[in-house]
Amino acid sequence: MLAIRLVSEPARLDTLVLPVRREGSDAPATLVPTASPPTEEVRAEATALIPAARLTGDAGEAREHLRPGGTPERLVLLGVGDGDEQGWRSAGAALARAARDETHVTVVLPDDGAVALRGLAEGLLLGSYRFRLTEAGDAPALAEVDLVVSDPDGLAPTLDAARTTAAMTRLARDLTNTPSSVKNPAWFAAQVEAAATGHPDLHLRVRGPEELAAEGFGGILAVGGGSASGPRLVELDWRPADARTHVVLVGKGITFDTGGISIKPVPAMKLMRKDMAGAAAVVAATLGAAALRLPVRVTTLAPLAENMVSGSAYRPGDVVRHYGGLTSESTNSDAEGRLVLADAMAYAVHELQPDLLVDLATLTGANAVALGKRHAALYSENDQLAADLLAAIDEAGERAWRMPLPADYVEYLGSDIADLHSSPARGAGSVVAALFLREFTGELRDRWVHVDMSAPSWSDDTHAELTKGATGWGVRGLLRWLATLG
Ligand code: BES
Ligand code: MN
Ligand code: ZN
Repeated sequence: MLAIRLVSEPARLDTLVLPVRREGSDAPATLVPTASPPTEEVRAEATALIPAARLTGDAGEAREHLRPGGTPERLVLLGVGDGDEQGWRSAGAALARAARDETHVTVVLPDDGAVALRGLAEGLLLGSYRFRLTEAGDAPALAEVDLVVSDPDGLAPTLDAARTTAAMTRLARDLTNTPSSVKNPAWFAAQVEAAATGHPDLHLRVRGPEELAAEGFGGILAVGGGSASGPRLVELDWRPADARTHVVLVGKGITFDTGGISIKPVPAMKLMRKDMAGAAAVVAATLGAAALRLPVRVTTLAPLAENMVSGSAYRPGDVVRHYGGLTSESTNSDAEGRLVLADAMAYAVHELQPDLLVDLATLTGANAVALGKRHAALYSENDQLAADLLAAIDEAGERAWRMPLPADYVEYLGSDIADLHSSPARGAGSVVAALFLREFTGELRDRWVHVDMSAPSWSDDTHAELTKGATGWGVRGLLRWLATLG
C-alpha cells in the first residue's frame, strides 16, 4: 500500500499538490486555504492558472503544471468539489491515478484537516488498488505522499482509521476478485484464519460438512452438496473486554454460483465468482473493528458454499430443513443465497442472541433492476437502526436506499409442503428475498437489517475511489457504523 505521512512542514518539494474548490456553477474555482500556505509566488501562479486551465474545482479534476528549475518543480491543482469528505475521497483517487510518473508528492491540507484527511487518504489508498494475477506495467508509480497539516499528532488516529478502512476494503476486493478455481469455501476460510491469527481478542471457529450436518445446517449443506469442495461456516468473533453491544454480521459466501440444476445462462454466470462479496465485506469489517479496537462485540458468520451442478446437487422441489427447524421448498436452485443465510441467521438468533443482526448479500439481480448499479437495497423494520446505518454508509462514501417490507407479499412465501417457499414467482425479487430472510430473525425481527448489495459489489468501470471489478462495498459503511456503537 501507498505510504502516507503526516508532516507539519513540507519535507521535499518536488511535486506540490494544491487543492481547489468548486464555488458553484457560475463562480470561478478557488484555492482551498491550507495549513501551510504555499509561498506568495506559488499562490499567485496557481491562482492565475485556475481560469487559464479552465478548472472547475470538480472533485477528481487534476491538472499538472510544470515549473522547470522552480521550487516546487511541479504543481498539481486538485479539484475537491465542495470540500466534503467524498469530494476529498474522489480527489485522492484521482491523484493516485494522475501521478503516473511521480513517486512522491506533497499535499497541503486545510487547517481543520480531519474530514479532508479521512477522504483524501481513503481515496489515495483505494484509487491506487489493482488486482492482477500477473505483473502489469500500468500500476501507478506513486509510492509516498506527504500530507502537510497543522497538527500531525492530533490527526494520527484519523489517518489510522482511514488506513485500516482502506486496507480492509482492499482485502474484501482481493477476496472477491479472486477466481473461483482458487477460491473455494476451504480457501476462503483459510484466508480468514491467516488474517485473524495472532490477534488475542479474535476467536475463529470453522465448521466443515460433518459439523454442519451434526448441528442441522440443512441450507448450507443442500447448497454446498453439489460441489467437490465442501461447504464451511466461518464464525469470527471480535470480543473486546469493554463491549456493551453485541452485533452479529452475516455475509453470503457463495464462492461460485452456477445456479445449480436451475443453471444460469452464460452472461448471468460469468461474474458469479463475486457471489461471496457479502461474506468478504463482513469478515473484513470485523477484522477492521479488531484492528481499530472498537469497543463493540462483533460476531461474523460467513456461510460458504459453491453452488454447482452435479449428481449430488440439490434439486428444484427439494425441501430443506434449516438450522432451528424451519423448512423451505426450493423450486429454483439459483435462489441459494437465502438458504445459506437463513441457517446462519437462525443460528445467530438461537445461539448468539445478539443485540443487533445485520446481513449483507449479493442476493438478487433485482437489486440492480430497482436501483441501478451503485445503490444497495436496505431493509429493516427498525427506523432508527435503518437511519443510523444509512447515515454511516453515506458518510463512508457508499450508497444504499431503503426498501419496503410489504405485508401483502408475505403470502407469496407460502408452500404446500413446507413452512416456506424459497423463490416465489410473484412480488419483487429483492423484496421477497428480504421477506424470506425475515422469517428467520425470530426475536430479532425489529433489530435486524438486510442489505442486498449485489449491484454495488462490482463496478463495471473505474470511477472515483472504485476501480473496475470488486468494490469491497460494505466494509466502509459497516466500520463507520460499528464505530458509533459501543
Ligand atoms: N447470486 C445471484 C444474484 C445476483 C445476480 C448477484 C446478478 C449479482 C448479480 C443469486 O443467487 C440469484 O441467482 N438470484 C436469483 C433469484 C431468483 C432465482 C429467485 C435472481 O436474482 O435471479
Ligand atoms: Mn443464485
Ligand atoms: Zn447467488
